Amino acid sequence: MKTILITGGAGFIGSHVVREFVVKYPEYKILNLDALTYAGNLENLKDIESAKNYEFIKADITDQKHIQHIFETYQPDGVIHLAAESHVDRSITNPLEFVMTNVIGTVNLLNSAKSIWEGNYEGKRFHHVSTDEVYGTLGEEGFFLESTAYDPHSPYSASKASSDHFVRAYADTYGLPVVITNCSNNYGPNHFPEKLIPLCIHNILNNHPLPIYGDGKYTRDWLFVIDHAKAIDLVFHEGLNLEAYNVGGFNEWKNIDLVKELCRQMDQKLGREQGTSEQLITFVKDRPGHDLRYAIDATKINQELGWKPSVTFEEGLSITIDWFLSNKAWLENVTSGDYQHYYEKQYTAE
Ligand code: NAD
Ligand code: DAU
Repeated sequence: MKTILITGGAGFIGSHVVREFVVKYPEYKILNLDALTYAGNLENLKDIESAKNYEFIKADITDQKHIQHIFETYQPDGVIHLAAESHVDRSITNPLEFVMTNVIGTVNLLNSAKSIWEGNYEGKRFHHVSTDEVYGTLGEEGFFLESTAYDPHSPYSASKASSDHFVRAYADTYGLPVVITNCSNNYGPNHFPEKLIPLCIHNILNNHPLPIYGDGKYTRDWLFVIDHAKAIDLVFHEGLNLEAYNVGGFNEWKNIDLVKELCRQMDQKLGREQGTSEQLITFVKDRPGHDLRYAIDATKINQELGWKPSVTFEEGLSITIDWFLSNKAWLENVTSGDYQHYYEKQYTAE
């Protein structure tokens, strides 16, 4: 029986990866290691929590001794590393937290993997889940390729770029069998409502303003989260050592157009007159260092591994809205308490 350690499995993307692996590979033991920060929520995994091949371990990846103990105890054959501080705006107010988790935490995991695998890397794999933000920003044209030079601008993307460099350094220096995926913006069920799409869904439901940074012309490439989870499964099993694979939806939207489409679908589903939710759109002060455009060229993973998105954006968005409409308790839970303070500071402070 293979043992796969997934970090950050209680978060948005991690929970979909954990579910994909628990359901698809009953012959694997799936360990979900997560510190349960504000972004981690075991509610995301209620449906599989009692599966025989699943175990949750509460641990902080910055705690080197605890991480080493876990590796020695469970002897994982593979690691899929998603645990991270993931929100750009939070990285602007607290960069050090991002260095601690995203850089130091990653190095702790690399050290522990190296210590238990050294001398026998056969059948072992460290899969690092990264982002397209490491490539910086594009102008109106062009795409990020795997060969695009790193040029991060936010403390978040700088910390992710740094962690990617450490992952490659451990392969080059110690021969650690690593693979990296760099994915575009995800959306879907369980998305934490500090991020654009779930934040707007929450605010439309509550008739609150929809805050659009700057002129709203910033562009992102959106991918349905389950398609990302399937890409990770494919790369973890079939990707080549030391390779990076870009993952994206070939699905670019300017923020303002995306929010208008969201308003259109929400008005339809809520039985509101078309145009009602759009009136909530409010332009607010811009994000400092805001990257203009991200666009992934996902040709490599498509041609070499046969991956492509399984749903169109309209379908994925509709599934996502339906999920939030049927899980209002989840949304209310995660937006109470600390989230209120975060929201006030982020959107009302000058
Ligand atoms: P998330 O913020 O929803 O979840 C992060 C998870 O990591 C949470 O469960 C949290 O509790 C856990 N965590 C945070 N700090 C930890 C620590 N010190 N020790 C252990 N666990 C800790 O993030 P997400 O959006 O699901 O992103 C997951 C990964 O995918 C991240 O590495 C992110 O950089 C990457 N990524 C995200 C996107 C996106 O659009 N969300 C796109 C590409 C790549
Ligand atoms: O590209 C991949 C990245 O996508 C991931 O690595 C990050 O973890 C993830 O958070 C996401 O980063 P973004 O900064 O692109 O996502 P966010 O949802 O925060 O913002 C999307 C766009 O919407 C961005 O241009 C900023 C803008 N925005 C965001 C918020 C929260 C607004 O206009 N208003 C808002 O209130």
